[in-house]
Amino acid sequence: MSDHSLSRRTFLGAAGSAVAAASAAPSDLLAAPYVRRSHPSHPVVIASSNGIRGVARAVELVLRGGDTLDAAVEGVKIQELDPSDTSVGYGGLPNEEGVVQLDASCMHGPSKRAGAVGALEGIKTPSEIARLVLKYTNHIMLVGKDAQRFAMSYGFQVEDLLTPQSRETWLRWRANRGPDDDWLPPEGNTPMGVRQTGTINMNVVAPNGDISSVTTTSGLAWKIPGRVGDSPIIGAGQYTDNDIGAAGSTGRGESNIMVCGGFLTVEHMRQGMHPKDAALATLRRVVAMTPPRLLDERGRPKFQLNFYAVNKKGEYGGAAITRSNFAVADERGARIEDTAVLYE
Ligand code: GLY
Repeated sequence: MSDHSLSRRTFLGAAGSAVAAASAAPSDLLAAPYVRRSHPSHPVVIASSNGIRGVARAVELVLRGGDTLDAAVEGVKIQELDPSDTSVGYGGLPNEEGVVQLDASCMHGPSKRAGAVGALEGIKTPSEIARLVLKYTNHIMLVGKDAQRFAMSYGFQVEDLLTPQSRETWLRWRANRGPDDDWLPPEGNTPMGVRQTGTINMNVVAPNGDISSVTTTSGLAWKIPGRVGDSPIIGAGQYTDNDIGAAGSTGRGESNIMVCGGFLTVEHMRQGMHPKDAALATLRRVVAMTPPRLLDERGRPKFQLNFYAVNKKGEYGGAAITRSNFAVADERGARIEDTAVLYE
């Protein structure tokens, strides 16, 4: 049933309520009528925390009448083009050979279309190339050199995506790779900490109920060349169903792929779960699907994974394995909020 149609059952229910209202006390009759909203009255945009500038930009674009997918792409492009964000686009950390390989995907709820690119080199904004695949092809995913040639056919320039900072970080990682390799650690060497799997996911709901989502990343730092994570996988890195909502993820991609987490979170919302609970339920599935080598002695994952979700009404939430946060923008402005957590 569409949001606007009345079945016989709901019509009779409404008639019954009218009879009840007629016998209510005068003060009840003066109360504001309850309006069941099926869409938000203002755009709602949710993203990973590095999307704090992007969520504000996306809201602005939707308020000016922009499409939800275009708003999401413009939102994530702020990070793709920012050399100081080492998790995505220009300045993203490279693979083990020092080559930046980018993944991105997107979905446009109203047209029910999707696009993605994997292991794309030399193009700063893979989200735009994923949108080109969505708009101008009968396919969903292009990869590697051919994805690059596809981007070039639309006028995109191939550039060196390593910045002085990301090159330096990669060289430091290479110098500390192992005690028996041929790379000598530099003077005053400080070995690197945890491997990064940063990403940006953004999900946009417009007041007309249209929904879109985008995820873009440089993937796991120092990955084996050709490794593709969850971000370009439709149903893992992000997913939109225009009748229900959208969800996306950042963190350890392999663990998300194992549960098709973007799709699963939307399916949990379809069953009536609040977005936050939907994201938590997906994380519980992740834990159940985690091999023992990735669990600690208490059976908890040794990695981080985040899900962000918003439904068609504009209700939103985020959840992570351990403490984390996310960016949101709505009629109250742009802000950072804490996610729910599986483990304190
Ligand atoms: N979630 C980003 C990646 O694993 O590539």
